[in-house]
Amino acid sequence: MGTKSSGSRVFDTLPITGDYLIPYYGIVNVFVYVHEFFKESFTIEKSASRDPFAYPKTAFWRLEGEKSTDCCFWDGVECEEETGHVISLDLSSSFLYGHVDSNNSLFNLVQLRRLNLADNHFNYSHIPSDNFKHLSRLTYLNLSKSHFSGQIPWEISTLSELSVLDLSFNVDMISGEKLLQIKEPNFESLIQNLTSLEQLSLSYVNILSPVPDLLANFSSLTSLLRECGLIGEFPVGIFELPNLQTLSVRFNQELKGKLPVFKQSSSLNVLKLASTSFSGDLPSSIENLQSLNELDINACNFSGVIPFSIGKLNQLTFLDLFGNRFRGQVPSSLSNLTQITYLSLSSNDFSTGNLSWVENLTKLTYLSVRESNLTGLLPSFLGNLTQLTELKLQTNQLTGPIPGSFARLTNLEVPWLHENFFSGEVNFDMFLGLKNLSALSLSDNRLSVITKPNVNGTLPNGTIAQFKLLGLDSCNLINFPDFLRRQERLDWLYLGQNQIHGLIPKWMLNTSTETLTQFVISQNFLKGFEQLPLVLPWTNLEQLTISSNKMEGPLPIPSPSTIYFDASSNYLTGEVQSSICNLRSLQGLDLSSNRLSGELPQCLGNFSNSLSFLRLSGNSLNGSIPQTFLNRSQLMVVDLSDNKFQGQLPRSLANCTMLKYLVLENNQLTDVFPYWLGALPELQILVLRSNGFHGVIGEPHSNSEFPKLRIIDISYNSFAGKLPYEYIKSWKAMEFRSIVEESKYLNANKSIGGMSLNYNFKLTITTKGVDRYYEKIQDVLAVVDLSSNKFEGEVPTVLGNLKGLHSLDLSKNKLTGGIPTSLGNLKELESLDLSQNKLSGGIPQELTRLTFLQYFNVSHNCLTGPIPQENQLGRFESTSYEGNLGLCGIPLQNKCGNFEASEPSLSSALEEESGPFFQFGWKVVVIGYGCGFVVGLFIGQIVIAKDARWKLISTK
Ligand SMILES: *[C@@H]1O[C@H](CO)[C@@H](O)[C@H](O)[C@H]1NC(C)=O
Ligand SMILES: *[C@@H]1O[C@H](CO)[C@@H](O)[C@H](O)[C@H]1NC(C)=O
Ligand SMILES: *[C@@H]1O[C@H](CO)[C@@H](O)[C@H](O)[C@H]1NC(C)=O
Ligand SMILES: *[C@@H]1O[C@H](CO)[C@@H](O)[C@H](O)[C@H]1NC(C)=O
Repeated sequence: MGTKSSGSRVFDTLPITGDYLIPYYGIVNVFVYVHEFFKESFTIEKSASRDPFAYPKTAFWRLEGEKSTDCCFWDGVECEEETGHVISLDLSSSFLYGHVDSNNSLFNLVQLRRLNLADNHFNYSHIPSDNFKHLSRLTYLNLSKSHFSGQIPWEISTLSELSVLDLSFNVDMISGEKLLQIKEPNFESLIQNLTSLEQLSLSYVNILSPVPDLLANFSSLTSLLRECGLIGEFPVGIFELPNLQTLSVRFNQELKGKLPVFKQSSSLNVLKLASTSFSGDLPSSIENLQSLNELDINACNFSGVIPFSIGKLNQLTFLDLFGNRFRGQVPSSLSNLTQITYLSLSSNDFSTGNLSWVENLTKLTYLSVRESNLTGLLPSFLGNLTQLTELKLQTNQLTGPIPGSFARLTNLEVPWLHENFFSGEVNFDMFLGLKNLSALSLSDNRLSVITKPNVNGTLPNGTIAQFKLLGLDSCNLINFPDFLRRQERLDWLYLGQNQIHGLIPKWMLNTSTETLTQFVISQNFLKGFEQLPLVLPWTNLEQLTISSNKMEGPLPIPSPSTIYFDASSNYLTGEVQSSICNLRSLQGLDLSSNRLSGELPQCLGNFSNSLSFLRLSGNSLNGSIPQTFLNRSQLMVVDLSDNKFQGQLPRSLANCTMLKYLVLENNQLTDVFPYWLGALPELQILVLRSNGFHGVIGEPHSNSEFPKLRIIDISYNSFAGKLPYEYIKSWKAMEFRSIVEESKYLNANKSIGGMSLNYNFKLTITTKGVDRYYEKIQDVLAVVDLSSNKFEGEVPTVLGNLKGLHSLDLSKNKLTGGIPTSLGNLKELESLDLSQNKLSGGIPQELTRLTFLQYFNVSHNCLTGPIPQENQLGRFESTSYEGNLGLCGIPLQNKCGNFEASEPSLSSALEEESGPFFQFGWKVVVIGYGCGFVVGLFIGQIVIAKDARWKLISTK
């Protein structure tokens, strides 16, 4: 027994609260109890603590032997010298795993001043509440990182001597869920009596309430309230606490606030407001924060100009202003911040400026000034920043060469220089010599990167940079870079848009075989692989993009891990092997524009549960389309156009409920109208053009079929019977004149992991009398093309409901009757083709309301009467009207007796048309040939009609 033992050393004033304690009451048993508690209530599990220096403190507690039975000598236990009371228990990072009972007596160590159980795993126990009342002397309580869960008990609020309260990071390691919450009692009542608090750490506690004003009364507070779901306005008084040294309320997205006028006396050291909704200016009084080391306002809503006075904060080591709306210039006074190691100014609204202020910031390890309107040369003094590990200058307008002084940045790991206007030749050896480089991006500049052929037996591998990420897109590479031969850790490799000729060398197949996930070498002149194995060797590949080369021979097959494979626009031949169906994670497959032939393997419809994009257009594939599209198919885009597919459409396509885009034009499919596709809720584009579809279209089975269809082209088939007016009524998405938002294109996108696949719909559309290929299709576009079939009967009036239509083509059918006046409702129409039918009667005056019309063709019908002359109609060439023996008036030779065709009036036309454009905020280019101004909407650009027709009218 130790000398300090006395009858009342631990549980001296112990209130006996439970049966459990009674047998242990007594001196010896106290040790037994504590020992039992920690040794028996918990198991020792390494995974319970994360600190690298963690060790099992309780494992060395012993009951036997003289010294060791005195718990004051036990690891983590501290006793008061005179009384022998246990005053401090520190079992942080001790691998303790197990449940703490809500009624646990451990907390009856009433003399405790400090209790630290941080970094263990208490298996979602509630913080034991009952006995906290007795720990009234606690000044330090740390239960952080310990998997406690539930409401923080009100008993904590009675610990009025607490100066440190740390309940942070009780987060489920697996789900990331916050485990503790402050609800009842709320934040305010919980802390109102803790007036001695100096450190309050509640990061990742679910608080979901405003910050109580009374926090501003805690004169010596440090607050760490990261990601607590704080809302409302931050009490500005807190900034004025005279002793406040650290304030962190990061990641409370809905917490608003403004910075005050800072007083000179402030002792603020660390101020972190990142990812909150703090707004307003950075006040010039910031200069009063003379002790400030760290200022992090990343991703807030700050605006205005960065005050020049920021240069007075010469203690600053960390400054993150990323992602605000600061404008004006970066103040040159930053050059005063010579202690700074971390500086990010990226993604603000700075006006053009240069990097002159960086010269003397030689302690910088992290410098990020991307998307910052930087112009001018990359200064050679950059080479003085020898501590730099990360340099992010991408997406600026920097010009000139990469200075040779770059070679002095020997600590550099991550230089991102892409998307600038750097030019000139750069010898890649300079980068290879920077041995710490791991992520280099030079893509999309005007650089010519010179790589030397590997001289046999030069430097051993360890002596050159080993890249994980290497971006050399658009770097004027001519040869396949030889240094890659010795890259063993490549993860992302981008070599697209160069002029690399020849073959992908054999040794590349031995390069980074385990690590490479992204390999992009599109838009080069490569002819293929020097050696093509059955399966490419990169076992963890996720993206392989070899499109737009001159690849010949059979289709390379990447490893089963591949998510996106694009081999389009090459000269690949042979069949698509069924081994492609081993790519069970594939989400995007694009083999379009090759010379592939033969039948598709049947497995293609169902080999990957996640396939979203399938493009095989522009090959010579034949046979039937695989019949096996699965339920729960993720397919959004299917393009099989321009092949020789035969037979029927697979009915299983109706399983593809996410399908947005189905394009099958130019095949040899023979089938009836695929009415079963009407149930696809997302289908926007359906193109069956130039196939052997036939029969009467009939009626939809419900009135909400094809609910999102905006483009339908079934031209050049053998559909017969009446125009499908019942379907036309169901095409609801075409009924609305969509509001034009800038640059929104029809697309499908999907993100998985770090990769985002985005496919802008591409399509050939016949409009205005010509076929045009659109690389992008504006999302408001609506097109109906039913031409070149065998439709008969009248043009249905309901077509006038499709008020969003931009192009309507009913030409080359056998339609009879008159032109419905309802077509005058199609105010968005730019192209209307009714030619080569048997339409009779007059051209309705209502069509003069179609003031966007650029193409109008009613030739070769049986129309009669005068051609209306208002607005556009009078200005088309005679080819629009010819072949109708009964039509008269300009532009035809045929005069209309006494009929005076009225001159169109420019002013009235302009008045009418200025409306919708201003309303939609469009920039309109008005080209006037006389009064025939023309605008258009296709692919979001203003199409300027250069057609000779317009000139003819203007000179008339
Ligand atoms: C705070 O202290 C006051 C006065 O000691 C007491 O009346 C009140 O109940 C305490 N509140 C809490 C939440 O502990
Ligand atoms: C730069 O620092 C010096 C010394 O700390 C100070 O006198 C000067 O005013 C500062 N300049 C700017 C522009 O803040
Ligand atoms: C770049 O600077 C120019 C003028 O200096 C400014 O007009 C432009 O808006 C800035 N661009 C960005 C993206 O902030
Ligand atoms: C950088 O430091 C040098 C030497 O201390 C000084 O002469 C120069 O004026 C400083 N440059 C800037 C931009 O502050």
